[in-house]
Amino acid sequence: MDLGIGPVATMVEEYLKQMAAERALTHVRSGMILGLGSGSTAAYFINMLGERIRSGSLQDIQAVPTSEKSAQQARQLNIPLTSLAKQPVIDLAVDGADEVDPDLNLIKGLGKALLREKIVEIHAAKLVIIVDETKLVSQLGTKAPLPVEITPFEHAAHMRWLESLGCKVSIMLDKDEQPVMTDNGNYLVCCRFVGGILDPVALSRILADRPGIVEHGLFLNMADQVIVSGTQGITIMDKEA
Ligand code: A5P
Repeated sequence: MDLGIGPVATMVEEYLKQMAAERALTHVRSGMILGLGSGSTAAYFINMLGERIRSGSLQDIQAVPTSEKSAQQARQLNIPLTSLAKQPVIDLAVDGADEVDPDLNLIKGLGKALLREKIVEIHAAKLVIIVDETKLVSQLGTKAPLPVEITPFEHAAHMRWLESLGCKVSIMLDKDEQPVMTDNGNYLVCCRFVGGILDPVALSRILADRPGIVEHGLFLNMADQVIVSGTQGITIMDKEA
């Protein structure tokens, strides 16, 4: 029997994402250089930002996008785009996440944009993450797999090496069952660690050292604030000073 709970749950989830995005907008001031995240929650933020610029309540905003999709959305909304080459410091970056742990460490990238997100967000004076409460975990890797961007060249060898780290690896496929291609022309794999990632810092170093691994979705010690939207309201998690 279909109780129709699926569509209701989806509506609640979308509403929570919008609430988180709206709260993030309160950080934005006229004249700021912004980093625009990627994914469905960040898309709500970009839409609201476009509306504020259109209405004139925010002026002189410039934004650096973290994916072709976010760039396209921003262009459609007439949000002026710039680059790190022209604006080396971003005042505020706003993005979603796939998992958030109690120390504000993140898994990101299931929306396929992790490399550009990391490049842009390390230049942000403030990184605000917007999530609904389902993204909170006590340990990274317990709900979401870790996305890793790898070179198409000898990708099977990279996947074999990743499996040697103790995870189950699968390549992300598109609707035609072909490997998903990132904006940077690479493949993405998902690494599932049974019981979660025991030592994210050590794993991050191991991955960073390996040729063929372009970037991974562990965003450690990067977020300054996480805005969590739940059915009981908004909770703010701030990085400890
Ligand atoms: C994009 O590659 C990701 O890092 C997203 O920020 C992340 O997947 C969260 O996406 P949603 O907001 O769509 O859940």
